[in-house]
Amino acid sequence: MSSELLSKLLDLLGPNGLVTEASDLEGYSIDWRHLFPGKPLAVVRPANTAEVAGVVKLCRAYGTAVVPQGGNTGMAGGAVPDASGTQVVLSLSRMTALREVDPVGMTLEAEAGCVLKTAQDAAAAVGRLLPISLAAEGSATVGGVIATNAGGVNVLRYGMVRALVLGLEVVLPDGSIADGLRRLRKDNAGYDWKQLFIGSEGTLGIVTAAVLRLLPQPKSSVTALMSVPDPKAALDLLACAQDELGDTISAFELMAGSSLKLVEKHFGLRRPIADGDWFVLIEAASSLSGLREAAEAALGNALEQGFALDGTVAESGRQAADLWQLRERITESEAKEGKSVKHDVSVPIPLIPQFLVEAGIALERDAPGTRVNCFGHLGDGNLHYNVLIDGHASDEINRIVHDVVDRFGGSISAEHGIGQYRVAELEKRRSAPELAIARRIKTALDPEDLLNPGKVLSRAERA
Ligand code: FAD
Ligand code: MLT
Ligand code: ZN
Repeated sequence: MSSELLSKLLDLLGPNGLVTEASDLEGYSIDWRHLFPGKPLAVVRPANTAEVAGVVKLCRAYGTAVVPQGGNTGMAGGAVPDASGTQVVLSLSRMTALREVDPVGMTLEAEAGCVLKTAQDAAAAVGRLLPISLAAEGSATVGGVIATNAGGVNVLRYGMVRALVLGLEVVLPDGSIADGLRRLRKDNAGYDWKQLFIGSEGTLGIVTAAVLRLLPQPKSSVTALMSVPDPKAALDLLACAQDELGDTISAFELMAGSSLKLVEKHFGLRRPIADGDWFVLIEAASSLSGLREAAEAALGNALEQGFALDGTVAESGRQAADLWQLRERITESEAKEGKSVKHDVSVPIPLIPQFLVEAGIALERDAPGTRVNCFGHLGDGNLHYNVLIDGHASDEINRIVHDVVDRFGGSISAEHGIGQYRVAELEKRRSAPELAIARRIKTALDPEDLLNPGKVLSRAERA
């Protein structure tokens, strides 16, 4: 049966579109964090939407599951197959066209496999901004960031990816093509069905192309690294910056001093200000002049009030990029440091200092010897409270941290999604009616559970 399917896939896609050699399958088989090794039957690389639809129809006829994959930078194991050797990975890596950038309508249309950085650069070339920014932007794809409803460092000002998607083209689990590639700012004509697919992690349909919203490219920006005495002071600094710089603030990132030490250890990058327990990286951007003066006044004010202890404002684009490297290299430094358990949590912003205190106490009590690597998007209430483990089991660490998250009314997945990593934990936390909504949607669109099965919802839960 599977050889018959492979032969039909070859007829449909040609030799460039089908990968079956074991050595060539490796890169598609395991996730970025190397936590979920899988074994695909094959990898298909369709060249256009019609071929994606053809693959989905063929696989459905043979009862074969399809796992969509973009840049494979996801943090939840959503883009890799299980170990059964029966699932087909559908890689969007040949669908990379950037179809149109419209500086007047402020839109960009791209195929799903277009790398995020390519799309950002194309927008910048016509003086526009695509404000989706994350450390994996050199590999993550347009389809991937839509499928995960990614966050990143600019959510504070521009929102999650969902807020930036105007139109979507999706191949449904039955192989039909839903063409919603509209570029309208206002469109209340019926259900906004594209929202179902944004953040559905490839379980409801395969995104093949999208129209994204662009913004004016700011003409001036200010990047500053500040050290702060504690997380409460970081929140005071946030409030002070918001009072004085308003919506020009596009990023407000918290980093523990220990996170920056990891970056120094593994990449040799040194922070340009004195050592401290906590740091904040702030970026403000504007199309109007006068931003630098306003930012320097606001930060000076924060220093005077004791919210910040020390700080530096980048003098050039190069210096700003160097400051960002300190933040963007944390994830890779953590991976080099050893085994860690990641937490992508959000709690109401004012509760963050108390959350940090209580999570620290719980870990010290129940998992002594572990180290915390804490950084993240403070302005969004989203922290990566990652724990470097020392012989402790991952499940135990997850339970300790997530119990505290629950007490604070938080979320166990602020931006990375559920994938296969957090299925059981999600199901524990959702009420029966909420799970029933999810199951009904899944069953309505994918009754045979052939699109990315076992991701977001467990297979049993879908029955
Ligand atoms: P993949 O990893 O390939 O896939 C992710 C999920 O989407 C899978 O479930 C997959 O099946 C599905 N999928 C992919 N493409 C499609 C498609 N075309 N149609 C349907 N489903 C599809 N994430 C954040 O939110 N914020 C961050 O700040 C952030 N920083 C990161 C930093 C680093 C260093 C790394 C390695 C990752 C980071 N991530 C971050 C996680 C990751 O980059 C995002 O989740 C990103 O959106 C994944 O894009 P991708 O193309 O790699 O998708
Ligand atoms: C980030 O903000 O850098 C990420 O989401 C990646 C991570 O959690 O390590
Ligand atoms: Zn993040």
